[in-house]
Formats: sequence, C-alpha cells, structure tokens
Amino acid sequence: MKCDAPVGVFDSGVGGLSVLAEIRARLPDESLLYVADSGHVPYGEKSAEYIRARSLAISDFLVGQGAKALVLACNTATAAAAAELRAHYPDLPIVGMEPAVKPAAAMTRTGVVGVLATTGTLKSARFAALLDRFASDVRVITQPCPGLVERIEEGDLDGSETRRMLQQWIDPLLAEGCDTLILGCTHYPFLKPLLRQMLPAEISLVDTGAAVARQLQALLDGRDLRAPAGSSRPTRLWCSGDVDRLQRVLPILWQEPVDVQVLSAG
Ligand code: DGL
Repeated sequence: MKCDAPVGVFDSGVGGLSVLAEIRARLPDESLLYVADSGHVPYGEKSAEYIRARSLAISDFLVGQGAKALVLACNTATAAAAAELRAHYPDLPIVGMEPAVKPAAAMTRTGVVGVLATTGTLKSARFAALLDRFASDVRVITQPCPGLVERIEEGDLDGSETRRMLQQWIDPLLAEGCDTLILGCTHYPFLKPLLRQMLPAEISLVDTGAAVARQLQALLDGRDLRAPAGSSRPTRLWCSGDVDRLQRVLPILWQEPVDVQVLSAG
C-alpha cells in the first residue's frame, strides 16, 4: 500500500463530515474520500443486518478507490459492522467510534451522564459492553433521538423543529442532574452551537471526533502509512441519495472545495 493513497471515510449521511473535519485538521497531508450513504439514512432506525450489508458495500467501494485505511465515521455502523469489516479486511487499518462514555464518566461531577445517540447504537451489545466497562461508578441516562438525523440532513441546525426535538430530550436529563452530555452520533456535533444556547453553561458536551483522528494517526504511523508532506489531493465525496440536497447543505457543514459524485455501487 502506498503512503499517498487516500483514507476512506463513511457515514449514513453528512454526520461523518464532523469527523472528517477533525481528520483534516490533524492530518492535513492525507487525501480523503467520503461516502454519504444518504440513500439509506437513517441507519439508527434500521436493522444491524441492513447496516452491515451497507457498510460492506461502501467499504468495498472505498477499497476499490484505493483507500489505505477506513474510518467508520458513524457510531451506529461501528456498533453493527466494525467486527465484520475487520474480519473481512484483516490487513486494512480500520477506525471505528463509540459514544464517549469513558471520558464522560471521568468528567462528571454530579455523577449523572446523558447520552444522545441513535436507537441502533443504544440497543447494541457493543454499547452495553461499553457501559459495563466504563460506567459502573456513574449513572448513565440514554436518550434515543429518532428524527434528529433527518433534520441535520436537511441542514436544519437551529430551526424550530430541531429546537423542539432537543428541548424534549434534554429537559428530563437536566431534571435528573446530568452535567455531562455525550453526543453519541456523528451528526450531533453540528448542533453544538444550538445546544450551547439551550443548555446551562456548566453542562459539558463530549464527542469522539478528535479521538478518531488521533487513532487514525496512530494506526497510520504504526504501519508507516502517513502521507508525505504536501501530497494531499482534493477531497472526493460520493452520495447515494439526493445529491442536490447534499450540495445545498454542504457549504454549512464542510469548508473545503469538494468534488461530489453519485454513488451508484451497492
Ligand atoms: N451518524 C450516525 C451515527 O454516528 C448515524 C445516524 C443515522 O443514520 O441514524 O450514529
């Protein structure tokens, strides 16, 4: 595998762009490929079998495009498919992600942590194992957020419907004394400015985008796969759904020029 080969990143839609931004900031020399599987969004309300099939099809596509590493910029796909993908590509560096339970448990002062995530992530065996490992000393209140990903796919980061949804979910968490809120879906970091307006200042928000970028760096370094300085090529993005909608929302979610194409594979 050549060092200047690209890194392949995917999510059910635009959410993984929050992770892509962290990767771009930490690893500016890497060339990036991104698949937004918006023809199949939301993953969070679909079966694990369905998400595994999508994750395999997209990963095959990205590997076919020459990806030297894969990033599952999606908590839901990681819970459903990371083990299968690692078995399928035993030699490929693969970075998955999961809600930031460990850092949140270390941060909370009230001992109450809230988790906003998809239904699929919260129902998964992987999330149950995460709580077993890291949350034995704190109270964790989980809150699925059906419908929220669709608002973000529409580019509605602060409209009345998005506010109404968030309010109904965060009010009970605050009433229970939660002081640390995990954003356990890669779409939700785009709501941080709105959440900061809606939440008291002492509530901490935690997500794992920066940790994913650090982990990718470590895996690439470990295999001598870091791109040489100055070798980065323009980011390429494929979308399996409504490309016009994506083009409309892209300017508010991603700051670099990007080449957008339709993903017909899978
Ligand atoms: N962005 C994804 C995640 O991190 C999935 C959202 C969805 O499609 O439901 O979980």
